[in-house]
Amino acid sequence: MRVAMIGTGYVGLVSGACFSDFGHDVVCVDKDASKIERLEQNIMPIYEPGLDALVEKNVKAGRLAFTTDLAKAVPGADAVFIAVGTPSRRGDGHADLSYVYAAAEEIAAAITTYTVVVTKSTVPVGTGAEVEAIIQKVRPDLKPGVHFSVASNPEFLREGAAIDDFKRPDRVVVGAQDDKARETMKELYRPLYINETPIVFTNRVTSELIKYAANAFLATKITFINEMADLCEKVGANVQQVAKGIGLDGRIGSKFLHAGPGYGGSCFPKDTLALVRTAQQHESPVRIVEQVVEINADRKKAMINRVRAMAGGDLSGKTIAVLGLTFKPNTDDMRDSPSLDLVPALIDAGATVRAHDPEGMEEAKKLLPDALVYCDGPYQAMEGADIAVILTEWTNYRALDLDRVKSLLSAPKIVDLRNVYDPAQMERDGFEYSSIGRPT
Ligand code: UGA
Repeated sequence: MRVAMIGTGYVGLVSGACFSDFGHDVVCVDKDASKIERLEQNIMPIYEPGLDALVEKNVKAGRLAFTTDLAKAVPGADAVFIAVGTPSRRGDGHADLSYVYAAAEEIAAAITTYTVVVTKSTVPVGTGAEVEAIIQKVRPDLKPGVHFSVASNPEFLREGAAIDDFKRPDRVVVGAQDDKARETMKELYRPLYINETPIVFTNRVTSELIKYAANAFLATKITFINEMADLCEKVGANVQQVAKGIGLDGRIGSKFLHAGPGYGGSCFPKDTLALVRTAQQHESPVRIVEQVVEINADRKKAMINRVRAMAGGDLSGKTIAVLGLTFKPNTDDMRDSPSLDLVPALIDAGATVRAHDPEGMEEAKKLLPDALVYCDGPYQAMEGADIAVILTEWTNYRALDLDRVKSLLSAPKIVDLRNVYDPAQMERDGFEYSSIGRPT
């Protein structure tokens, strides 16, 4: 099948590369000429394990190409995916759909044969209908269900595990209004039938809502365990054991029950907020999600208190080593990362902050205060520091040489916001150690 992927951001690039690896002919389109040029030289705009090799392989096989010319990529395509950005609109938290609508107009003008236009970006409920209306406005000669269809096919991939998530998903969700679209989508995902991946067909609005409901549910699960962690600290319980004890109940499930500094990233914060706004607009508020948004924002701000407590109540004049800046490991993504709250707050409180991140430091430089000192490795960051804070659970922070850490820090103090180390072990090793929701 022939596929055009509009937008080479996270979702677009990974989906385009994976569809080509399924054997389809894929053209990825982006307005950013320098990005396309770099992609043609196999330079990835994002850090995602395995992506460069996948792109290289499929470009060589002639199944994957890049262009800035949407008008050339769309004619003759069986499916055109809209995978452009949908940032939160400043001020009101609604998803900004201007890129989606602009893409719909351009696609409409270029359609020559029956095409399914598919929204792959996370788009608010009702966007598919709007895209259909735009296409009809630009091209009154095209009839939905006859000359084109608009479908919804949300993506559930996680950064850092995106390729595996695309190729071995728990499920694929397709929202379509007619059989022609359903058939095309079935054909596109045929390679997944081998591993018996369930394909959930719904109408378009339902599919759009599933995406938000999934992310909001996961964000709620994390927020729930984070609050349990705080309670654990008060009553002397252990949140990891609480998570295990409840997670083994199949109705609850053990995933996404790791307590931490609050969720970040490009999806949960934006999508929970967008769902809240949509629900308010329809006068059917999702109060539980409203609370989740608020609790998570407060939590990220409150992380400094844990560092301050370790410093004996005053951070001024202290040197703090921060290990990890990205919102999670295996990505260079800094969007809504807990570090964006913690690092500036530490600096404002008068601390000197020395940080290391394996992939995120370039991005961090654009977003964090100039006063932050960037270090070549975790040990360099800890040299002469008063406290080390583990903020992102990168693998190389999970197996630190603790004797070396002890010799580098001015006093052996660690604030572990990801529960990477065992409190009993740390105590035996002579560390003053605090973590999330576990007795010390
Ligand atoms: C998330 C979803 O997991 C994907 O299914 C979805 O496709 C994606 O959003 C999206 O909408 O595009 P992602 O943002 O890449 O994926 O990252 P996650 O692994 O879900 O982590 C999100 C945040 O939650 C991170 O800050 C992570 O540290 C935090 N988290 C996650 C916890 O604090 N505890 C957990 O148990 C799990």
